Amino acid sequence: VSLNQDDLKKIAAYKAVEHVKSGMVLGLGTGSTAKHAVDRIADLLRQGVLKDIVGIPTSTKTYDQAVSLGIPLSDLDSHPVVDLAIDGADEVDSGLNLVKGRGGSLLREKMVESVSKKFIVIVDESKLVKHVGGSGLAMPVEVIPFCWNHSLRRLVGMFAYAGCIGELRMSVENGKPSVTDNGNFVIDLYFERDIGDLNEASDAILRLPGIVEHGMFIGLATSVIVAGEEGITVKTK
Ligand code: A5P
Repeated sequence: VSLNQDDLKKIAAYKAVEHVKSGMVLGLGTGSTAKHAVDRIADLLRQGVLKDIVGIPTSTKTYDQAVSLGIPLSDLDSHPVVDLAIDGADEVDSGLNLVKGRGGSLLREKMVESVSKKFIVIVDESKLVKHVGGSGLAMPVEVIPFCWNHSLRRLVGMFAYAGCIGELRMSVENGKPSVTDNGNFVIDLYFERDIGDLNEASDAILRLPGIVEHGMFIGLATSVIVAGEEGITVKTK
């Protein structure tokens, strides 16, 4: 039988959930891959295989899913240290750097995953790239709505050396700007050439007033589980 992309996402997700132990504080990721992990955690809680789990959701969507499945939830105010976070990604490179946020949830994800002792990324093999930000696909940046066009121009100007273009993300449902869980907008940046040192690029973006966070997750993942037609590969730092 040949596996479709959703089968591969589920295989990676189930593999990651093998690392969940009773009593853990868990970062619950967002997206179509992470959704399988949340489903699986709920199954194991229901079966009594897992006990005393506290989930910290990384989006309102995951919050709603976890509530509907009866997973006990909390937040970083009450649980500032997370034992393990499991989440998908849009791109993963050989240094385990990620691009996230094409689904719109990068800010809460980064808040949770940056305080997780372990952060397992789950992807199907289509997400593997040579260098994050160099794939020609979107690198999302969350910005405050105030003068977003000015922020867009500053971002594009900053990365002129990499042939950057940017656009405001629009909602397919209502044709208006897409609004994040935090009430912000998203600018998608596209690079024609490599952006160079990721940490320098990150610092430069975060120094711009009006920018809230960007979708490069540099050095945060502790391992990546990749599901492919040929089986599962685990990449560890
Ligand atoms: C959510 O905004 C993202 O950061 C997701 O983690 C990412 O888009 C991966 O989603 P999929 O698992 O649906 O590809």
